[in-house]
Amino acid sequence: MIPVDGNIKRPQPPPLNQVLPAEPLLLMTAGPVPVPAEVAHAGSLVINHVGETMAMVVRHIREMSRYVFQTTDDRIYGVSGPASAAMEMAVSNLLWPGRRVLVLRNGLFSGRFAEMAEGVGADVTILEDPDGRPVSAPLVAAALKAASYDVITMVQGETSSGVYTSDLAEIVQLANDHGALSVVDAVCTLSTMPLKKDEWGIDVVVTGSQKGLSSLPGVSLISFSDRAWEVAAQRTALRPHWCLDVLRAEKFWGGHQYHYTAPVPALLALHEALRLIIEETLELRFKRHLHSSLSLQKGVEAMGLRLYAPPAYRLNSVLSIEVPEGIDDARARKYMTDRFKVLIADSFGISAVRIGQMGEQCRAPNLFRTLHALGVSFARQGVDVDPSAGMVALETHLADYAQDVL
Ligand SMILES: Cc1ncc(COP(=O)(O)O)c(C=O)c1O
Repeated sequence: MIPVDGNIKRPQPPPLNQVLPAEPLLLMTAGPVPVPAEVAHAGSLVINHVGETMAMVVRHIREMSRYVFQTTDDRIYGVSGPASAAMEMAVSNLLWPGRRVLVLRNGLFSGRFAEMAEGVGADVTILEDPDGRPVSAPLVAAALKAASYDVITMVQGETSSGVYTSDLAEIVQLANDHGALSVVDAVCTLSTMPLKKDEWGIDVVVTGSQKGLSSLPGVSLISFSDRAWEVAAQRTALRPHWCLDVLRAEKFWGGHQYHYTAPVPALLALHEALRLIIEETLELRFKRHLHSSLSLQKGVEAMGLRLYAPPAYRLNSVLSIEVPEGIDDARARKYMTDRFKVLIADSFGISAVRIGQMGEQCRAPNLFRTLHALGVSFARQGVDVDPSAGMVALETHLADYAQDVL
């Protein structure tokens, strides 16, 4: 026997099948989302992280990502880590002491760029709409008249509140006119609604795998324009992050050489997730997402609940629903999980519950189950809602607009 430290107790956890519930919860939160069977299978495989097969997988991921990002840019990288790691790759490669960034903030995630930029010593200015709306193009134009910036960051869909940046294309145009690089967080929106990286002239787009792409959490994607790449490549300032250094990432993603051990199962899963998107086509995927969300919105309103964001900037991929006055939404959500095995999300800083409408969440059976569970659970809390009216509205919208895709 080779002795080990006798003071350290040997734990005895149960096997995982005793930890997981007998019936899994239907994940209708703001992510992670359910994944297709092909993705789950790919994510259970391990192959070598370098070599011919992996090189082919990486080539395909890049090629398919170009379609999903709607770009011809070659500089596309998978980042081992959450979507925040891809955000951090953008920030830490383009900003350093002496560089100025304008952060358009309308919630938790768009504000995260400011925290990251402060962390690398950049000069950070935050721009917010005084009335809590998403930052508009005129507001940005005024900010750019008053001062100059090297980088402007923004989010396409602010998951924390369920609003989207409706002026995104104009804001990117303003950034380009001003000579600033634009960085767009498309974490909860990519493949759920149009984002035209090249046509709109966006420099950097980041996304996660566990939302619209319906893949496993743990790897994220980032796309750089040539202009953004040049800035990163020519910097003489110290490179604070070794893993997130885009020049080193290029070695693996462009040159098939070792950088760090790639997250193999997550990349194989991503390969399948992207392939399924290509098979579906972006056009049909956008239609599926749009009508899934609109159907749910109709159902929620017909039931007697109110949607948080006005239609002009209501995010479809994560729907925020106001919690009626005097109601404990935590109890309603608990009833949803206990009785119906449906999980939805609470919110950050607003009185709302949120239902995800990303990837595999946007399937008719999931909508019916979720809306029914929501209505019944709120009714049990004493809210004056009519679940049946909601279900009729959901069915009617689906039948009229999306029978063929949902
Ligand atoms: C819009 C947006 N940006 C960034 C993030 C951060 O993603 P992650 O938790 O994978 O780091 C999220 C996560 O919900 C998000 O919704």
